[in-house]
Amino acid sequence: MDNHITCTELTKRFGSRTVIDRLSVTARVGEVTALVGPSGAGKTTLLNMMAGLDRPTSGVVSSPGRRTRSFIFQDFNLLDSMNARDNALLTRRLVGKRVRKKDVDTVFGRLGIDGLQRHFPHQLSGGQQQRVAVARVLIAETPYIFADEPTAALDPASTSVVLQSLRAAADSGVAVVMVSHQRDNLRIVDRTVDVVNGSTARVRS
Ligand SMILES: Nc1ncnc2c1ncn2[C@@H]1O[C@H](COP(=O)(O)OP(=O)(O)O)[C@@H](O)[C@H]1O
Ligand SMILES: [Mg+2]
Repeated sequence: MDNHITCTELTKRFGSRTVIDRLSVTARVGEVTALVGPSGAGKTTLLNMMAGLDRPTSGVVSSPGRRTRSFIFQDFNLLDSMNARDNALLTRRLVGKRVRKKDVDTVFGRLGIDGLQRHFPHQLSGGQQQRVAVARVLIAETPYIFADEPTAALDPASTSVVLQSLRAAADSGVAVVMVSHQRDNLRIVDRTVDVVNGSTARVRS
């Protein structure tokens, strides 16, 4: 069974305004799919529907294991009361998988945040916080990763670490769907969905 996310004729309306108009796209296992377009075009709306966080007005999203997914947001979304290690373990614990200390250490090391496991979010820079958020999705080992402008608030070094990690996750068999309006990000992308301001979109690969 494949874990592709297939969207067919998705439409989303807010009141009388159509934000997404009969958009069909497939996000594939092993690939990074990027949703690009100007601010307000509907990228987040589309991502949220693909992730199952929001329902389309019409159309269908199908993905076999949709309950096991993880998220990276623009604003890090760490829990203030938990240290970096517990934040990074949150999703894995929620899906009920066993935690091995060695694996946590390996991921922190790979992301260049070794030694920060006991730090709380307020003790970390934005780039470090986002790396913890990335650690959380890598440690969770879910078949899907959804990321909404994960590098928007980051310096170039952190941006590079985050993008390479998403690329590596895709290479290991995850379906990665990422919102981006930064051209730099597109180097690691396999498939681009242009969400055009107003209502239409096209897909490039
Ligand atoms: N819950 C909502 N209610 C009403 N309008 C919304 C809602 N969410 C998004 N919109 C509108 O839909 C459009 C697309 O928003 P969004 O998907 O956030 O765009 P993007 O992520 O591309 O910047 C915007 O005009 C936004 O104001
Ligand atoms: Mg958005």
